[in-house]
Parts: sequence; C-alpha cells; structure tokens
Amino acid sequence: MTEALIPTYNRLPVAFSHGSGAWLWSEDGTRYLDALSGIAVTGLGHAHPGVTRAIQEQAARLLHCSNVYHISAQSALAERLCAHSGMSAAFFCNSGAEANEAAIKLARLHGHRRGHTCPRIVVMERAFHGRTLATLSATGNPKVQAGFEPLVEGFLRVPYGDVAAVAALFDRHPDIAAVLLESIQGEGGVIVPATGFLAGLRDLCDRYGALLMLDEVQSGIGRTGRWFACQHEGVVPDVMQLAKGLGNGVPIGATLVHGLASDLFGPGLHGTTFGGNPLACVAALAVLDAIEEEDLLARATALGARIAAGLRAGLATFAEVSVRGRGLMIGVVLPRDCPELALTCLETQRLLVNITAGRVVRLLPPLVMTDAEADDLVTRLLAVLQPWLLASRPEQGVA
Ligand SMILES: Cc1ncc(COP(=O)(O)O)c(C=O)c1O
Repeated sequence: MTEALIPTYNRLPVAFSHGSGAWLWSEDGTRYLDALSGIAVTGLGHAHPGVTRAIQEQAARLLHCSNVYHISAQSALAERLCAHSGMSAAFFCNSGAEANEAAIKLARLHGHRRGHTCPRIVVMERAFHGRTLATLSATGNPKVQAGFEPLVEGFLRVPYGDVAAVAALFDRHPDIAAVLLESIQGEGGVIVPATGFLAGLRDLCDRYGALLMLDEVQSGIGRTGRWFACQHEGVVPDVMQLAKGLGNGVPIGATLVHGLASDLFGPGLHGTTFGGNPLACVAALAVLDAIEEEDLLARATALGARIAAGLRAGLATFAEVSVRGRGLMIGVVLPRDCPELALTCLETQRLLVNITAGRVVRLLPPLVMTDAEADDLVTRLLAVLQPWLLASRPEQGVA
C-alpha cells in the first residue's frame, strides 16, 4: 500500500506473487483458491502453459508495430472470432469499455446514415458497460454516474428483461439506432434473462432497422458453456463487444460487427495505438486454441452445474437464498447486503470471491478447475455462508 496510488479501489489486504491454474500465492506464501479469475479474465487459470509460451515467443520477436501496417495475428484472430460467433469482421482495442465505445459510435453512425441527427440508444437498468464517459452514461447504476454529469446524451433506459418496454420505445421514438445490453448482466447481480428476451429484441431490431449490440465482455469466451452467452438463444447480434477472458490477462478487447453494422466503420472513423498488437493477438489466439483443445465449453457447463448443485444442496435449509447463473457465471443471492463477505472468505477460507449488487456473492471460477477444486470451492464458501445466514436470521437478533 502506498499513498502514491490514487485510491480508486477499496483493496482487500493481500498482494499476490504468482499463480498456477485455479490457485494464487500471496507474497507471504499463503495459497488461495481463485473463484473470481480477476473478474472473468483468467478463464484458463493462471500461468496457462499455452498462453505463456505464445507470449514468450512473441515477446522475443515483436511486441508492437502499429495499425498502419498489416498484422497477421490480428487477421487470424478476427477470422477465428468470426467463425465462432457468426459475426463478419472485428475491430480490436484494449478493454471492455473501449469495445463498448466503438459500439456506441457505430450506433450513432448508423443513426446518422438513416438521417437522424440525434440517434438514440436503448439501454437497460442495472447495466454495466464501463467507466469512460459514454459507457458510464450507458451504465444503469447511479453510483457509477454521480459526479460526472453532464452525462453523454441519447440513452433511453428500460428494465432488463422487458421486451414490451423496448417495443413501446420503438413506437414512440423513430430515431432509435440501437439496443445495447449484456446477454447476461454481471455487475448487476448475475441476472440471466428469461428465454425469449434476446430473441424478442432481435425481432424488434430487425423490424425497426436498429442494431442489436450485445455486451459479452463478461459472459463471452466460453464462460457460460457456449462461446458467447447469446448462443444459448441462437441469437446473432449486429455488434458484439468482447474483452476480459479474450486475452487471459493480456489486455485486449474486440468489437465484432455483422449485418447492418458491417460497413459503418471505414478508414479514419475509429482507431487505437495499442489495440490488436501482435502480443495481445497471439495471447488471444492461444486462448482460443486452449478452449478448443481442452474442450472447455463442456467443462464450463459441467463445472457450473456441479458448483451450483453443491451450493443449492448446502443452502437448502435457507429458503431466503437463491443460486442463479449460467455455466461458470454464478451468483448466490443473499437476503441482505453482505459487503464484508469478500474479506471473510479471503481471511477465513483463503477463497477469492466478489460481492456485486449489494447482496450477490459472485463466482467466476476458471474453466480449467478440476472437479476436486470445484468441490473445495463449494466447501469453503459454505463454511462462510452457513454461519453468516444463521446469524442473519431475525430470531438470532440480527435482522
Ligand atoms: C459487461 C461489462 N462490460 C464492460 C465492462 C468494462 O470492461 P473494462 O473494465 O475492461 O473496461 C465490464 C467490466 O466489468 C463488464 O462486466
């Protein structure tokens, strides 16, 4: 800890020196089970041999050369992502917020092309899209926005999951250029929409000529058991935003386009110095290789079911608790706010988890966990949750 850092984070009292698979070691040599993956980033676990080798080899050859030249690894990565997603082309950047910024710019270009001078974008309550000015304006959390007004204008907000509310907006506003949402809400509390929601939005966007823009920054790259969470519903968007798990820790984001969004960006309309550099792209290619070779989509499905079942069994006597999510994006919804539980898990169980939306314990474990590690995760978490829930019951005097 040092005062030389701007305190934008409330950090937990530990610093890690190295990791392997689902485990991290602190600088004092203590071992922790990582059920968070750096918030959905290290899906292949720490120090994955394939990613490490790819980075080492590339680092010895060429880190960076600029997007004014062709970059073979970038072209290869774009083709691989398009093949897995059904999208047509990719723009590479460095983060989820940047991937969403590009999407918002695409929506505005699309609106202007249709003759609307102030194109609007429909966004969702409880959404999280990033911390830049446009993405925090799209985010549905007043705490993220407070103090940064004036917000970027042009966003219309509806409840997540409500197709009829979006349809009503389309009826009222002819200048809607796009609908932007997470396929599964992460920061909002691991909220999986009802079947038919994404397909319903796809139909509406088709009917009104608007872009469907799916933020798969947290839910993408295999985490839910498919390459992308929208594939559970067979929906292909016009724009798809990726980051987090794509580089397994090497910063990289991507905005994929399809359909009406395919020909909006041309030379000079968007850019980045670092985005899609050779180092980041070979890391991401190694991530895709590992997901395919190690059959990690099936593992995410199986591990997710195993962890959720273990938690449901261990919490069966607590009717006030629910376990929700898809694959390895899991939320344990508690009856009251529990900001202290991340520290309790860290200190008493050497387990890394995160609390989101006040009362949701969020688990984003690596896709490479063994069954024994998944069971260990459940045991450690239950050892914290069961006594906490008993102490929270009104008859215990802690309402
Ligand atoms: C769904 C979603 N979109 C965007 C972001 C922002 O990504 P980044 O922090 O890489 O800018 C996040 C980060 O948590 C996210 O979960």
